[in-house]
Amino acid sequence: MKLKLLEAFESIYGNHHDAKVYYAPGRVNLIGEHIDYNGGLVFPAAISLGTYGVARLRKDSQIRFYSANYPEQGIVMVDLHDMHYQFEHGWANYAKGIITFLLNSGRKLPVGFDLYVSGNLPTASGLSSSASLEVLVAYIASDLYKLNLSRVEIALMAQRVENEYMGMHCGIMDQLIIACGIKNKALLMNTATLEMEAHDATFEGYQFVIMNTNYQRKTTDSKYNERVSECNEAKSILKTSFQFNHLCELKPDLLPTVQSIITNDVIYRRVKHVITEQARTLDAMKAMKANDAKWFGKLLNQSHHSLKDDYEVTGVHLDTLVDSAIRHGAIGARVTGAGFGGCAIALVKNEFVDAMKQSVKSDYRKITGLEATFYEVNFTNGVGGLEE
Ligand code: GLA
Repeated sequence: MKLKLLEAFESIYGNHHDAKVYYAPGRVNLIGEHIDYNGGLVFPAAISLGTYGVARLRKDSQIRFYSANYPEQGIVMVDLHDMHYQFEHGWANYAKGIITFLLNSGRKLPVGFDLYVSGNLPTASGLSSSASLEVLVAYIASDLYKLNLSRVEIALMAQRVENEYMGMHCGIMDQLIIACGIKNKALLMNTATLEMEAHDATFEGYQFVIMNTNYQRKTTDSKYNERVSECNEAKSILKTSFQFNHLCELKPDLLPTVQSIITNDVIYRRVKHVITEQARTLDAMKAMKANDAKWFGKLLNQSHHSLKDDYEVTGVHLDTLVDSAIRHGAIGARVTGAGFGGCAIALVKNEFVDAMKQSVKSDYRKITGLEATFYEVNFTNGVGGLEE
């Protein structure tokens, strides 16, 4: 793999002297959805699909970007001193965002670099291809310029790029798991304190299958930001009655009181999702410790229903995949990531996986006219240099 990437770099930039090879995974979130911007505990894992990068420093102040995923864009060339967002630079804006924040934080970047990237994460699929790219570029920059950024610093910087440079007001989950993932583990992540705890996230005899709707809604970012502001609105209303920092601190037994305070039904349902999703995530940890796959599966189903009915981030494509997976042998299934399209996960007994995929594929084609794709992934380490 490493050699192939170096050759690809050479085919774009002439030779690969001094070039280094890196890899950043994507992520799947097992449970705890849309609560990472509400101070919640979430439970994601880094996965064996991701973004490769090859890079080396230059002698001048130019930066050159090339992505094998967008060959039509060719080489995007910019000067270190001109890092503003430009629509026509497409994917390279994520990388420019990272450089912008490094420069703004006073780091000295004396020269530019050449970067080649190539990813096997489907874009806009809810598996965090953009966070994978941001974290990759931040890690590469830290390595090339010897900045010694910690993994948490890398994640926070990548999140700032999404929030302030790209205008997507996401939480920290994706960037943090991509920076800090651990092989064969999922991480219980406290998004208020950034503390993380590794767990075995596997059930003997069962498998997590990722199912892609291959449906991309163009309004995902704006709908996502709308949910973030609905949560902020709920927070400011509730602050007049309760003392708390994050919505996830409120417990489910407070819901009747919350409902009497928040008169807007939509806003109430958003809070209801947040509070119950936090409780489900904590239960999921118990299910995992008790090795109770069925309980875990039930919580996945409940999570999906809450995201469908109360948080309203699913839609016919995701619901069809989830319903069909359950009809055909999954013990639990739900949307993963932001929703509005993208991917769902299903927990399935090993011996049913193939049959389930066939049946879901055909149900999904009949109902939506689209082809679903499936991924069986391993849980992997976070971003790093590529050894082989
Ligand atoms: C996107 C965001 C994350 C998180 C999820 C939903 O992936 O980037 O921060 O909010 O949606 O859980």
